[in-house]
Amino acid sequence: MRFIRHISATQPILDELDNQPELWNFYNFRTQFYPNSPHRYVSDIWLRYRDYADFNKDDPVEFGNNPDANYENWYGIAYLLPHVMQMIHNLVITENIERLGGCLITKIPPGKMVYPHVDKSYHAEFYKDKYLLLLQGDIQQAFCFDGEMHKGNAGDLFWFENQSEHWVENNSDIPRISLLIAARNKE
Ligand SMILES: [Fe+2]
Repeated sequence: MRFIRHISATQPILDELDNQPELWNFYNFRTQFYPNSPHRYVSDIWLRYRDYADFNKDDPVEFGNNPDANYENWYGIAYLLPHVMQMIHNLVITENIERLGGCLITKIPPGKMVYPHVDKSYHAEFYKDKYLLLLQGDIQQAFCFDGEMHKGNAGDLFWFENQSEHWVENNSDIPRISLLIAARNKE
């Protein structure tokens, strides 16, 4: 994991999330449909991924793992979050992104965690450059790999890969909210 820089203009994003609490978990496939999901205590807002009409709850693994699928579809929810969309489009330019895959906002409640896992799927492997913009954070939270613990403040932007085992701890008393982007950078 690598710290890129601090971005100061994240408050308008938190405000538009605060004003639309109904958007959380509209799509809950990542947190609820995989047995014993490492993300089971997490809430998501999915903005961009494969057409949700293709999701089969009897075979949830297939959804992220089809090399013939198109993972570059904006969901309607994204247009209800214009500051998030502006931020993503800015990152496409500043981070030299060539292909933009899945995008989501995720929230870990106080005292909960994302359990150790490796993201193994076609989508996770093809869109190998992951970006995390911490929208709400605290120094009592950490994104961890074996031997690495990355703490941050709201507005901190990181690059990471998720093909090594990783987990996220929230030992603070506020939710940890992150914008996650899966991409392929120009080489
Ligand atoms: Fe992960």
